[in-house]
Amino acid sequence: MIEDRMGLKGRRIVVVGAGGGGIGTGIVRMLEEAGAEPIGIDVDPQQGFRVADAADEASVEAALADIDEVDGLVHVVGGLPTARWDRVVDGTTEGWNEVLTRNLITATVSMRVVARKLLAAGRPGSIVNIASIVGLESMPFGAPYAASKAAVISLTKTAAVELGPHGIRVNAVAVGTVRVLQNKTGAPALDTPETKAVLPLARRGTPEDVAGPVLFLLSDLAAFVTGSVLTADGGATARPGYMDMDNLPVFVPAGDLRTRLTGH
Ligand SMILES: NC(=O)c1ccc[n+]([C@@H]2O[C@H](COP(=O)([O-])OP(=O)(O)OC[C@H]3O[C@@H](n4cnc5c(N)ncnc54)[C@H](O)[C@@H]3O)[C@@H](O)[C@H]2O)c1
Repeated sequence: MIEDRMGLKGRRIVVVGAGGGGIGTGIVRMLEEAGAEPIGIDVDPQQGFRVADAADEASVEAALADIDEVDGLVHVVGGLPTARWDRVVDGTTEGWNEVLTRNLITATVSMRVVARKLLAAGRPGSIVNIASIVGLESMPFGAPYAASKAAVISLTKTAAVELGPHGIRVNAVAVGTVRVLQNKTGAPALDTPETKAVLPLARRGTPEDVAGPVLFLLSDLAAFVTGSVLTADGGATARPGYMDMDNLPVFVPAGDLRTRLTGH
């Protein structure tokens, strides 16, 4: 049975940033479906998980103090508050510190606490960090966020090299645009004709679209995969930025070629 080969049944996976109804919650639900034992942590006490601030090592340690044996970690915490969207020339050190703490420092803390438990118990394990495709490319008006996600990818690779000899794999999932309630207008924004035209799979993602690749990386099916970045982006990074809504370079003029390829 493929479930047996995945080996997720009974595995205790710490999920940091488990609440919010977005990607973390989707991962917790899919882990439960796979028979694993997710241990959810969130800073928001309303979410029904263990409460800890992932920016504070003592707080995460306290939240996991009763657990010695874990099998892995998914670090989900991150994001860019609208108030921190800025032009590069307008950014502030305070803003940079806030965004780097939220995305990068939290990842270092989660990883330290869980990796130390794995090492102390002499157990193999799998760690997955949630990054973003903007960390592979750029984010106009979101420089600290893009830089912090690039740093999470670098951290993932360094940790993979250091922890590999102990049987601990470390990978990242670079997420594209996902429709989550966190785009807090009450309901996820609908896909528009524009999103459909510029995303190869013609839609934004769902939390389950991210949870699937995360479960693969946590599972024994990925036993030889470490230090890798798996994109879950509906093909967004495969598509050059200079393509127009007809999937032709913006500099291809109206005329015979365009008409032959697009029919209009
Ligand atoms: N939503 C997207 O389109 C998208 C795209 C690319 C990458 N990502 C990344 O995916 C991850 C999750 O995104 P989401 O949209 O599901 O987020 P979300 O805000 O819905 O969920 C994140 C959860 O983390 C918790 N959290 C925040 N700070 C914390 C802290 N210091 N300690 C513990 N918990 C804390 C929040 O309470 C929340 O429940 C983030 O790293 C984000 O950068 C999201």
